[in-house]
Amino acid sequence: MSQKPSYVEECIKDYKYIFRPDLLKGKVAFITGGGTGICFTIAEVFMRHQCDTVICSRKIDKLKESAETLSRATGRKCIPVQMDVRKPETIIKAADMALSEFGRIDYLINGAAGNFLSPISGLSFNAFKTVMEIDAHGTFYVSKVIYEKYMKNHGGVIVNITATLQLRGQVLQVHAGSAKAAIETMTKHMAVEWGMDGVRVMCVAPGPIENTEGMRRLGGESIDDSYLKGIPVQRLGTREDIGNTVLYVVSDAAQLVTGTTIIADGGDWLSSSNSYHQMQQLMKKKSMM
Ligand code: HXC
Ligand code: NAP
Repeated sequence: MSQKPSYVEECIKDYKYIFRPDLLKGKVAFITGGGTGICFTIAEVFMRHQCDTVICSRKIDKLKESAETLSRATGRKCIPVQMDVRKPETIIKAADMALSEFGRIDYLINGAAGNFLSPISGLSFNAFKTVMEIDAHGTFYVSKVIYEKYMKNHGGVIVNITATLQLRGQVLQVHAGSAKAAIETMTKHMAVEWGMDGVRVMCVAPGPIENTEGMRRLGGESIDDSYLKGIPVQRLGTREDIGNTVLYVVSDAAQLVTGTTIIADGGDWLSSSNSYHQMQQLMKKKSMM
């Protein structure tokens, strides 16, 4: 049931610098899920601040296309590497490749994830396991490999991309919510054990972000004006919002910030509805139930 993104990733048309353009000069970021969506834009924002990047996921053709787009727009190096976050041997190979290319990994962004709408009754044992393995196990495996191969001796920052689903038990999201909750707890454990090595470990939790696969899968087409008016900041998030939030987290401005989550959702989770009945209607409309 895997779906291939049918669109070509595009860079930001008119990026407005908030931080110094050389903020990440000489640094290297390893970004899982960096070939598409939010993590593509995190890679772009980092590269616009003079960081080189390694982007990794399963689909090498998509990664190559995205790496070219990113390098063309920013003038920085971006290496595409095939890797499945559920398979430690592929992670070890990818980390070795990144270190032989750049000699360092300053930032790890764990963004790879899998998701779809499903009531608990519609989830097979394997469906729940699959999402837990991509999101939670994947985040653990990649963090452990990058910490042991580089950050243990050189420090660094790990940023795990979570969500707001787990904060209140979002309907039709038990698989992804459970996985993101596990990641947020794992983040605290890693922050306390690895802090003395100069490693900060953080989560950034986006709310609904426009122009993403996540939104397409989770009923984005049903978002209308009344939904937008219900969000405290009166709009959806953008990929650039999340890129800038993650940039702040890795920057020296956040040196005291570790083991916690920055929610970047404009207040959406505080105010949006969480109705099983409404979501059932949406899924029926999409013939998913
Ligand atoms: C119920 C489903 C399902 C669905 C798959 N499964 N889709 N069950 N409803 N819509 C079940 C399958 O039947 C199978 O169980 C099991 O899940 C594994 O499916 P596979 O297709 O074999 O898995 P795999 O090829 O590993 O693909 C993983 C995937 C796929 C998660 C299912 O969709 C994927 O690759 N996704 C990556 C991209 C993605 O999801 N992006 C969105 C991230 S956004 P059985 O029992 O039949 O074997 C995100 C949003 C957060 O996280 C919040 C937004 C607001
Ligand atoms: P996306 O473009 O589908 O990103 C998911 C990425 O994960 C893809 O690049 C995919 O690439 C990769 N991936 C999936 N399974 C993998 C595996 N087994 N090994 C390695 N890579 C794998 O979705 P997105 O919407 O931008 O989401 C990005 C992140 O933001 C996710 O962590 C998501 O949970 C989070 N988030 C998104 C939203 C939103 O509104 N979109 C809201 C809250 C949180 P391949 O297919 O090539 O493997």
